[in-house]
Amino acid sequence: MDFTREYFQKMYPKDGYIDGDFNAREHAAYLKGLFELMELEVKSVFDFGFGKGELLHQISRTFQPTRIEGVDVSQFAYDSLKKRAIARDWRLQVCNVHEVTGRRLSDLGLSNSVLQYIEDRHIEASVKRMAERVKFLYFHVPTSEDYKVLRKVLDFKDPYAIERPKTFYQDHMSKYFTIVAWGVLESKINGRKGTPFTDSFYRI
Ligand SMILES: C[S@@+](CC[C@H](N)C(=O)[O-])C[C@H]1O[C@@H](n2cnc3c(N)ncnc32)[C@H](O)[C@@H]1O
Repeated sequence: MDFTREYFQKMYPKDGYIDGDFNAREHAAYLKGLFELMELEVKSVFDFGFGKGELLHQISRTFQPTRIEGVDVSQFAYDSLKKRAIARDWRLQVCNVHEVTGRRLSDLGLSNSVLQYIEDRHIEASVKRMAERVKFLYFHVPTSEDYKVLRKVLDFKDPYAIERPKTFYQDHMSKYFTIVAWGVLESKINGRKGTPFTDSFYRI
């Protein structure tokens, strides 16, 4: 599907409260606190599906990384963000997550509310590409269980999303990542060596 202006107008209405957008600053503050506690530096960030770019903006302000990269399949999202001064030095690309190329490693990846739009046939490659390119991934995805609650409590529907049970994402993500904290995954390809997230109880 196409992520055009219509998608963003529908999903990000002026009076809407999309998690990771209206409260992007709080998400960034949470990660900053956690990474400081763990004595982990974040010098490079890669956003897999940057959208409006607000989360990436707040992560950039909070961590002041020296390198910021990102992809999004939406030409509209890319054009809108590229116009903004904040993104002047960011390396952004119009690209699917599963088609991300290159080997440069980032300290922190972001994948906030993106996987529910990726077709089944591209999930495995998308997750693998993310795990290859980052040490840690800040990851959120609404599952069918979450959509049920969102419909009931907030009357929120996303006609563009593929609703999948949490076991679908658990199965795919666990092949390449370990959950080490709320929203924070460690890459099984790049993250494990010398990890500060040593508490076995939280390594899922
Ligand atoms: C709900 S928005 C989330 C945007 C951003 N991550 C945030 O937290 O605000 C979903 C984004 O995923 C992007 N997207 C969907 N499928 C994608 C894919 N296969 N590869 C890259 N981006 C994709 C859409 O274009 C859209 O910008």
